[in-house]
Amino acid sequence: MKNQRILMAQRPVGEPDDSCFQLEEVDVPELEDGQVLIKVLWLSLDPYMRGRMNDMKSYVEPLQIGDVMSGESAGVVVESRSPRFQKGDYLTAHLGWQTMIVARGDDPRLMKVNPDNGPLSAHLGVVGMPGRTAYFGLLELGKPKSGETLVVAAASGAVGSVVGQIAKIKGLRVVGIAGGEEKCRYVKEELGFDDCLDYKSGDLGEKLKKACPDGIDIYFENVGGEVTRAVAPLLNKGARVPVCGYVSKYNDEDMSKAETPFDILRALDDVPEHRFFVVTEWTDRWQEATEQLGAWVKEGRIKYRESVGEGLENAPELFRGLLRGRNFGKQLVKIAEE
Ligand SMILES: NC(=O)c1ccc[n+]([C@@H]2O[C@H](COP(=O)([O-])OP(=O)(O)OC[C@H]3O[C@@H](n4cnc5c(N)ncnc54)[C@H](OP(=O)(O)O)[C@@H]3O)[C@@H](O)[C@H]2O)c1
Repeated sequence: MKNQRILMAQRPVGEPDDSCFQLEEVDVPELEDGQVLIKVLWLSLDPYMRGRMNDMKSYVEPLQIGDVMSGESAGVVVESRSPRFQKGDYLTAHLGWQTMIVARGDDPRLMKVNPDNGPLSAHLGVVGMPGRTAYFGLLELGKPKSGETLVVAAASGAVGSVVGQIAKIKGLRVVGIAGGEEKCRYVKEELGFDDCLDYKSGDLGEKLKKACPDGIDIYFENVGGEVTRAVAPLLNKGARVPVCGYVSKYNDEDMSKAETPFDILRALDDVPEHRFFVVTEWTDRWQEATEQLGAWVKEGRIKYRESVGEGLENAPELFRGLLRGRNFGKQLVKIAEE
């Protein structure tokens, strides 16, 4: 039996081209006691993976050349010598871009999937890591109050779409920002945001002023750059800015020199409450978030959309597309039929 996997072949300068990735095929070893064999069905592509490719320390160590690309996948246990998993169990595994994974059953990077919370692919999106990021970032750091105004960009994406819909559930006025008319229409008409502005069509500052007549109380930061510069002057006294990421800068040739949301926010006269967070700060409450998100999805109060590509060999191109906004909803790669 063979495992296909993608390694980081060299560090990118700017957008990662094909020379940064190497697809290889290796034998799947015999299982040892305590191990499981996972057949991967879905691979998740996420913006943070770009940061891991830089030789820069962040909240986790960077990838080294020759390492398997970081990433989370969802699959099924096809053989088990671990008491924690049985053949046929569904799970997510944070073990990189590969098709057949051998892991210790007690590895904390494996999480059992409860099918009651949604389809397997949703455990990489709306009820998985991005959904939980929205849940904790908004509720713990955004501290939303009914009647307030929230703005979130990358609003049709995996995290942004959930941020806005939870904020609607909590009674806020919600304004999304997204790239292009089609995404904006979806965010308003399908996801039920009060408004959605296309940052690519110009005058974002003016449009925001009109869409947020009472100013902005929470800005959930996903993108940075020109969007943050347009939002910043409209932040009210006492505003909160959970800094989740700033994807507009991830392909910069030198990330260490990129303008960050912190540079923009700290230059304001009234500096809002803001900090960077990582979803792993709340690992002990992941179950709670997944169940709550699953319940909201079942009740039809949270909707989601997936952008599905096929085949591990296409992951690099799909990953480039994600960082350019070619995805429409959670970006997944279908690796094998369920
Ligand atoms: N802190 C954490 O624990 C954590 C966890 C998960 C994700 N994140 C962060 O959350 C953010 C969203 O991630 P996601 O997984 O939900 O991805 P996503 O929104 O599904 O996809 C990325 C989106 O970013 C937008 N984008 C790309 N370049 C842009 C630019 N120059 N200006 C404005 N928007 C741009 C594109 O949407 P448009 O077409 O609408 O521009 C694209 O679809 C990222 O910053 C990511 O790093 C953080």
